[in-house]
Amino acid sequence: MSITVSPLSEAIGARIEGVDLSRELDDETFVAIKNALFEHAIIVVPGQTLHEDDQERFCRYFGELEMVRSGEATSDHPAVLMITNVTDSGRPTALEDGEMMFHYDQCYYENPALGSTLYAIEVPDEGGNTLFANCRLAYEALDDGWKARLDGLRALHYYDYKRDPTLRPSEINPGAPQWVHPVVRTHPETGKKAIYVNRLMTLRIEGMDRAESDGILDYLFAHIEKPEFVYEHEWTVGELIMWDNRCSAHARTWFSPDKRRMMRRVTVRDPYPVV
Ligand code: OGA
Ligand code: MN
Repeated sequence: MSITVSPLSEAIGARIEGVDLSRELDDETFVAIKNALFEHAIIVVPGQTLHEDDQERFCRYFGELEMVRSGEATSDHPAVLMITNVTDSGRPTALEDGEMMFHYDQCYYENPALGSTLYAIEVPDEGGNTLFANCRLAYEALDDGWKARLDGLRALHYYDYKRDPTLRPSEINPGAPQWVHPVVRTHPETGKKAIYVNRLMTLRIEGMDRAESDGILDYLFAHIEKPEFVYEHEWTVGELIMWDNRCSAHARTWFSPDKRRMMRRVTVRDPYPVV
């Protein structure tokens, strides 16, 4: 099978055609897909008809699957999480409603995911777009002064699932997950550096007073969100998107709670630590 890879935008992403992910992939096809993911940070594969098993099999080519943390995970597909406001999907759900600010998944854990896939089952006719920011390109665009300033800095990431995902918390719930990671991380497989802070989950740079930390973070949040680093995806049913969570951030635009939106998510573990 020979696939075609075409860039989605100047900023980030590639569209992959000529592959049927409901079947097993030969080595050559998988390597071509993986290279596209590493080069473009996100891949969009349109026109797929995927059952849970198919999406899991595709993800397993990249590594071990992340099990869903919520206690209600069903035993037959414990890696499947529905990102949906639809209440009768029969699976655990998360991130049900509305807008989300830019973030990296699980940066508040010691070992954040390698990446995730979302498969579009139902999409609203308006809103609920996903934005992807290229944090490698954003890092490379910094001037040398900024690069030197960020070198060696570490920041605290935090997320409380019970809070409004459009707001940064002003105080910390000690029971919610939190972890400190480098402000610039190096991709374990490409060796390229990327900015690793985000508006939703990054609270504070270590060892700095609040004003100085806020100054740097606010600059970096706005920087990675600049239009030249961002692609906004309007979903079509049957698309599968995978993002490399080590060098891209993502966000979601608002959509009406009266409209159904259902994405199936399967997440891949990262065998490498964040450095
Ligand atoms: C996620 C996420 C965005 C979306 O699943 O981690 O951020 O568009 N989803 O639903
Ligand atoms: Mn996310």
